[in-house]
Amino acid sequence: MCGIIGIISKQPISSMVLEALKLLEYRGYDSAGIATLVDGDIERRRAEGKLVNLEKRVNAEPLSGTIGIGHTRWATHGAPTERNAHPHATEQVAIVHNGIIENFAELRAELEAEGIKFQSDTDTETVAQLVSRNIRTGDAPIEAVRKVFDRLRGAFALAFLFKGEDDLLIAARRGSPLAIGYGEGEMFLGSDAIALAPFTDKITYLEDGDWAVLTRDSVTFYDENNAQVSRIVQQSAGAAYVVNKGNYKHFMEKEIYEQPEVISRTLAHYLDFASSSVREDVTNIDWSQINRLAISACGTAYYAATIGKYWLERYARLPVEIDIASEFRYREMPLSKDTLALFVSQSGETADTLASLRYCRAQGLPIAAVVNVRESTIAREADIVLPTLAGPEIGVASTKAFTCQLSVLAALALSAAKAKGTITPQKEQQLVQELASLSGYINQALKLAPKVEAICRDLVNVKHALYLGRGTSFPLAMEGALKLKEISYIHAEGYAAGELKHGPIALIDETMPVIVIAPYDRLYEKTVSNMQEVAARGGRIILITDAEGAKHANVHAVATLTMPEVPEFISPLVYALPIQMLAYYTAVFMGTDIDQPRNLAKSVTVE
Ligand code: F6R
Repeated sequence: MCGIIGIISKQPISSMVLEALKLLEYRGYDSAGIATLVDGDIERRRAEGKLVNLEKRVNAEPLSGTIGIGHTRWATHGAPTERNAHPHATEQVAIVHNGIIENFAELRAELEAEGIKFQSDTDTETVAQLVSRNIRTGDAPIEAVRKVFDRLRGAFALAFLFKGEDDLLIAARRGSPLAIGYGEGEMFLGSDAIALAPFTDKITYLEDGDWAVLTRDSVTFYDENNAQVSRIVQQSAGAAYVVNKGNYKHFMEKEIYEQPEVISRTLAHYLDFASSSVREDVTNIDWSQINRLAISACGTAYYAATIGKYWLERYARLPVEIDIASEFRYREMPLSKDTLALFVSQSGETADTLASLRYCRAQGLPIAAVVNVRESTIAREADIVLPTLAGPEIGVASTKAFTCQLSVLAALALSAAKAKGTITPQKEQQLVQELASLSGYINQALKLAPKVEAICRDLVNVKHALYLGRGTSFPLAMEGALKLKEISYIHAEGYAAGELKHGPIALIDETMPVIVIAPYDRLYEKTVSNMQEVAARGGRIILITDAEGAKHANVHAVATLTMPEVPEFISPLVYALPIQMLAYYTAVFMGTDIDQPRNLAKSVTVE
């Protein structure tokens, strides 16, 4: 999603802005731009596509100036062209924006009726034009901006730069995240701590509804009622998030290979491996008050949560409602006070997940969140934070965050089961030991990479693929299909294996690869029957199973990936690996932009 940076310094800032924009690239974008004040006038450089295009533009026509704003744009309103790239500017003001101005059409009509000519198709330009109109009619910049907030509906983070104001930036947050950074005689604003990491580790997160006035030596905060407020300065962990690819070709590859380590680290936070038990105090959830869960999440996090549902219901005997966050918030589900509202999010900024959290807050429910970014809005607004210790995930396609989410959810299910007495101490010990053995199994799964690569050479030529699984392998099938779609652009669907004959079987012919996730467990035989239905219609089966499964398959598979034999409880964590590798190597062969696939954003801060 869009990334914002703003800098007031004593030295030229255009290269600093570009450096920060590079750190925001991971969020996903399709154009970029920068504006500075040159002799008091606003000057812009903007470019379609990747940052290197903007860099070329700035190198060809350098931008001086010690104050400025920059932006990476993920198109919502208007095509990803230079004309629609931010900053949007009039003579008086330049702005960058993350979010959506929902009432932009009516605002634009109002301004156009007054004869104002728009230069772009964006919702953002209406904000620039409104502020500009106020300045032209006599308002000072701060007043001009303040008056505009009341006119805007929707979610936004905004930064403003003004003609002739060499010591003033304004930042505003409603919905979308924004942080202020402190330097020596310099001030910064940015979408996240990562963007600010090269310049400062002292930051303040704007609260929702806040706006801030920045000069080189000061920042003044105002809340949504325009009352001056103080906000705490905190030490940022942003620097830890500035990572490189090391010897790997892509961040996604690096993140796949980091999984044995980050899963162990995450599990060790919740489990005591020495005594093979769940740590008592770590989740801080009073399970005696909880009789059910309502979980919301989006995308990969939703699939992780769906696997978590199987565990929570099976081991802790807790009924779980699970929803895609964008549906949950509008479906008016009856919620009782004995429901724990649980949100799962890597970024902790996903707009729909955050909106669902706030909906549950308004209903008075206790709120827990499984999040990777500790300083995120979701982490800050939850009562109980259940961290995934995956470290920064830069590849847009989630891999290690997914398996760390699974790790936390597995530990959470055991913690609830222990507190509710639905598992015996022996069972707790057994299941904790199974989780403790995960990194070994995952390392074994990683060794299948050459075999996976060989399969992917053929997948490159297909247009569609089906993934099938039962039990916890069903959400994994959906996750596998999502991964393949995201980075290779091959159309794929994940189905419950038993659902095949209720429709999708019509798609099976000799061109259709069917990836079957079937560990040799209590559901295996049922899945084999479904495989036979596929084989009978000439489908090309790629079977992911273990040695026993391979022995009992009894159908012709064009390829079999033989996994280590793993206990059923932890199998989704281990089988996630070949699923991720299948998508990764297919995309490598296709030559797509793996870490920043087209149209996708890492942090989805609009609804
Ligand atoms: C897919 C992927 C997305 C995210 C989804 C939610 O690989 O990464 O589907 O899982 O956008 O994002 P978070 O977890 O940040 O809330």
